[in-house]
Amino acid sequence: MTKKILITGGAGFIGSHVVRLFVNKYPSYQIHNLDKLTYAGNLKNITDIENAPNYHFHKVDLVDATALSNLFNTHQFDSVIHLAAESHVDRSITNPLEFVMTNVVGTVNLLNAAKECWKGNMEGKRFYHVSTDEVYGSLHDGGFFYEDTSYDPQSPYSASKASSDHFVRAYHNTYKIPVVISNCSNNYGPNQFPEKLIPLFINNIRNNKPLPVYGKGENVRDWLYVVDHARAIDDVFHKGKDGETYNIGGFNEWTNLDLIKVICKTADKKLGRPEGESEKLITYVTDRAGHDLRYAIDANKIMKELGWEPSLQFEEGIAKTIDWYLDNQQWMDEVTSGDYTKYYDTMYSERQAH
Ligand code: NAD
Ligand code: TYD
Repeated sequence: MTKKILITGGAGFIGSHVVRLFVNKYPSYQIHNLDKLTYAGNLKNITDIENAPNYHFHKVDLVDATALSNLFNTHQFDSVIHLAAESHVDRSITNPLEFVMTNVVGTVNLLNAAKECWKGNMEGKRFYHVSTDEVYGSLHDGGFFYEDTSYDPQSPYSASKASSDHFVRAYHNTYKIPVVISNCSNNYGPNQFPEKLIPLFINNIRNNKPLPVYGKGENVRDWLYVVDHARAIDDVFHKGKDGETYNIGGFNEWTNLDLIKVICKTADKKLGRPEGESEKLITYVTDRAGHDLRYAIDANKIMKELGWEPSLQFEEGIAKTIDWYLDNQQWMDEVTSGDYTKYYDTMYSERQAH
């Protein structure tokens, strides 16, 4: 079977792992990676597959509807796996409109391009929208997010992702576009831009810089190794039922502070530092505005219906992750050159230590 799949955001963190998995596992598929290459997009994430005969790259901005429509006309994709997005909550607090443009307008442009290309023949087509558990809001009294939990987004980022999820369902209902959606918990692993907690803290530990813990570090996240998310995306893409939603998560909850202590301890060992050395870098700073307290996914549906389960225990995953960042200093140096220092200074100079 030949499939022509358009994967968006394939130069980003999760997208690069998805592109790699599909290019290697399905040599009969043609994999087209669309990415604008924002600060978060980095083709160095996928140099190992860039010359594969079934891999193609297109530098396109999702906000450019004409470019999207031309791309669909030329290549006649039969499936889309949509990951491209503005993805960092702190940036969404600084610049919400950017998130509306890429996450909402960009998704609607992509839906329109698919609708036009597929009109009259929806057979064998699939629009897969990759989303986040943050659309469900914040858990305060225990419990989990289920597929039918009401949406209650609390940040501009999650509001923009929630809006894009609604548009995907609306296009399914109104225009009969075959869709599937998944909502995943926090990912960790190689190639994540060091604006997110884990790579930022590993990089700061290495450079003996303060570790800026928001508030009291009591917020809880449910962490999943990125390759396990990519494997889940493969399962949902191939086996998910039309119109359905699947929650993806690792049943792996950590308070930020406990997680940071594991990172410090593991890094001390790997860097040959005395135990407890990196923990001294922990600095409590002004909390994130509207900081969601807890996210936790119930992943039973995808486990029972599609047979997916995480392959890595957290201890193994975090050790591999720390190894990767410490072994790939050139990658880190490249992504932290240029605008990164400006970003870091703007984002963190306003946060008072307490
Ligand atoms: P990322 O920020 O690392 O990568 C996003 C990619 O999208 C980059 O390559 C960027 O260049 C590209 N992009 C941004 N704007 C674009 C535009 N206008 N046109 C074309 N390309 C554009 O993000 P990520 O962490 O890999 O997340 C990927 C997807 O998974 C997102 O939709 C995100 O909401 C979702 N998600 C992420 C997590 C997580 O923990 N990182 C968890 C659940 C869901
Ligand atoms: P992040 O990686 O930004 O993911 P998300 O906000 O999407 O969950 O943050 C993970 C948690 O870590 C979140 O509770 C905010 C916190 N955090 C810090 O305490 N300090 C930091 O410098 C960052 C980036 C995050």
